[in-house]
Amino acid sequence: MVRFSESITKAGTYPFKKVTDLKNGLIKKGVKVIDLGMGDTTLPAPEIAIEAVQKAVADPANHHYNFYNGYPFFREAASSWMERKHGVKLDPEKEITAVIGTKEALFRMPSSFIDPGDIAIIPDPSYPPLESGTLSAGGGVHFVPLRHQNGFMIDFCEIPENIKQKAKFIYINYPNNPTSAVMTDAFAKELLEQAHKYDWAILSDMAYSEVYENRRNVSLLEFEGAKERVIEFHSLSKTFSMTGFRIGFACGNGEMISSLVKIKSIRGSSPFQPVQAAGAAVMENGDEYLLTMRDFYKKNRMLLKSIFAKKGLEIFNSESTFYVWAKVPGSMTSLEYSTLLVEKYGSVVTPGSILGASGEGWFRACFACRTEDLLEFERRFI
Ligand SMILES: Cc1ncc(COP(=O)(O)O)c(C=O)c1O
Repeated sequence: MVRFSESITKAGTYPFKKVTDLKNGLIKKGVKVIDLGMGDTTLPAPEIAIEAVQKAVADPANHHYNFYNGYPFFREAASSWMERKHGVKLDPEKEITAVIGTKEALFRMPSSFIDPGDIAIIPDPSYPPLESGTLSAGGGVHFVPLRHQNGFMIDFCEIPENIKQKAKFIYINYPNNPTSAVMTDAFAKELLEQAHKYDWAILSDMAYSEVYENRRNVSLLEFEGAKERVIEFHSLSKTFSMTGFRIGFACGNGEMISSLVKIKSIRGSSPFQPVQAAGAAVMENGDEYLLTMRDFYKKNRMLLKSIFAKKGLEIFNSESTFYVWAKVPGSMTSLEYSTLLVEKYGSVVTPGSILGASGEGWFRACFACRTEDLLEFERRFI
């Protein structure tokens, strides 16, 4: 019998797997499931991405190992993107690296800072790979609750002084999954103040940066002094509906970038060249696609909000991400309520508690699905 490590046998399954299993059970029974659970989009990737991949894949020169930090043309496209979208100037050589989707990079990044016994500050609820990345580097996690009354910004008064002093990094994610909150300027300034005071690195996850209605999302790198201690993760998965391509970039502090590249050179690799070509093409020429995408999400967001309003559900009002974060009615737990939605309406949502203890009492519904699916959900639910 082969003997597996404790770290893998004791690890819980990736939380979204529970939702997927629930859904697959229903599909096997022949139920047409409405899936508002997974954060994947129904939108096709931009034509320019497909054309760029097709062209690049036909060239055998692109079939080989490549630079761990990505091709210069990709990093230059990412650098121009950051300047155009955020007014942030970054050196494509030292301050940017390509990543194979941000999930993997976010999971790997804690090992840049964490030795056994170190701790990280991570919001609760939050996207899971940061916790697992910190634990697998031998560190511990101090969870800080995201509360409705604070607009789901971290309240630094809630972090004990000894934790602040010990923590090596803090993770933030705005626009936020799952709450859909967007970062306020006041929060960004306070975060940077705290990080300078306690010497934290900041891991800023902007996976949903371009998914908004009217007000663009601000990068933490736009604030003075941020480059000293911020590494920011940008994903093309949500921005250009390229989830399966596995492409994004990390940018910011040069030392943190070179540390991530070092980890990649030891434990990983970089995106397939044709995928980098697609990424560069959309960052350079994809703005029109973004307008269509935002319009689509705006309509779906309004529709889902109106369905929840008809049902008397309380929601957190936001114009960003493709999630609605809604309160569980009555005294049910979020898992009980999600199970009820599956059993009674054949519809899957994500219970807040699987994304962290403070997510209890809430559920997340993703509206990146087809509008027809939302209409069908309305027919079943109302
Ligand atoms: C908050 C957040 N960060 C990062 C990711 C990872 O995206 P990708 O690995 O596709 O770049 C996701 C995906 O759902 C996410 O929700």
